[in-house]
Amino acid sequence: MNERIGIGKAHGKIILSGEHSVVYFEPAIALPFKELTLTVEITPSEQMTIESAYHRGLLSDAPQELANLQLVIKETLANLQQNQETFHLKIDSLIPFERGMGSSAAVANAIVLAIFDYFNKEVDEQTLFNLVQSAEMIAHGNASGLDGKITISKQPIYFIKNQTPTLLDINLNGYLVVADTGEKGKTAEAVSSLKRRKEESPFEIDQLIKRLGMITKQIKIVLKEGTIRELGHLLNESQQHLEQLGVSNDSLDHLIEIANNHGALGAKLTGGGKGGCMFAVADTQDKVAHLEKALLDAGATQTWVLQL
Ligand code: MEV
Repeated sequence: MNERIGIGKAHGKIILSGEHSVVYFEPAIALPFKELTLTVEITPSEQMTIESAYHRGLLSDAPQELANLQLVIKETLANLQQNQETFHLKIDSLIPFERGMGSSAAVANAIVLAIFDYFNKEVDEQTLFNLVQSAEMIAHGNASGLDGKITISKQPIYFIKNQTPTLLDINLNGYLVVADTGEKGKTAEAVSSLKRRKEESPFEIDQLIKRLGMITKQIKIVLKEGTIRELGHLLNESQQHLEQLGVSNDSLDHLIEIANNHGALGAKLTGGGKGGCMFAVADTQDKVAHLEKALLDAGATQTWVLQL
């Protein structure tokens, strides 16, 4: 029996600050969500087949939602000059799909790593990033590259498009209570609607984007030498601007309001928006439990806790 196998791993992410403005070269801060693991396993097969929550069967029959994966597989095989190879690719993921938690970038990273492993080859950082970006351009439209970096990073990062990310040390004690609205996030739609609004009202939208960038810079300082309350205020301000940019929606706004009425020190959407997830900041475990209950009672379909 052929024992050949390739394994690739990545994880989820939470954007603390700077989603959307990061597409326009403002900084963003993101945290790895290491508990939300994603593993890709590749084994020999006479046909190209896939086993995932979305699709089980021939890769060529995969639905449109997996166009990004089809592309990254093709490009990775081309990079390795193995275009004719076929295999079975199995995806095991704890990252909820289309919730702004990095599933598309994580799966692309894990696929590239698994394919290189299958052929017993090392992949350098830049090649990995470029291959993942080709898939992310399909998933997000105009991807900044943030998700590609954070879904394989072991530490929080401070990221500016086209620059090497800086690793961040966080000196604050606190928790993020993440809640899923149960509605699919629409990252590509949010990114393209913001682009349109920016073309229509450049001055107004540029001001908001710049302000979001300033907030991210302030948050970087607060994470090092500030308080959890200061972080909460900045996150609330950031949410107001994201709402003005049109990337929040009713279900996010509702959970954010619930969190703020139940002891959160601040709350905002995370990721692409227009659905997906939000998070609230809390300073004690009692408040975390209280917030989780309030968010679930208000319709959140799932909650997670991330310690800062
Ligand atoms: C999506 O996780 C984050 C966005 O800023 C898009 C991107 O950075 O590619 C909305």
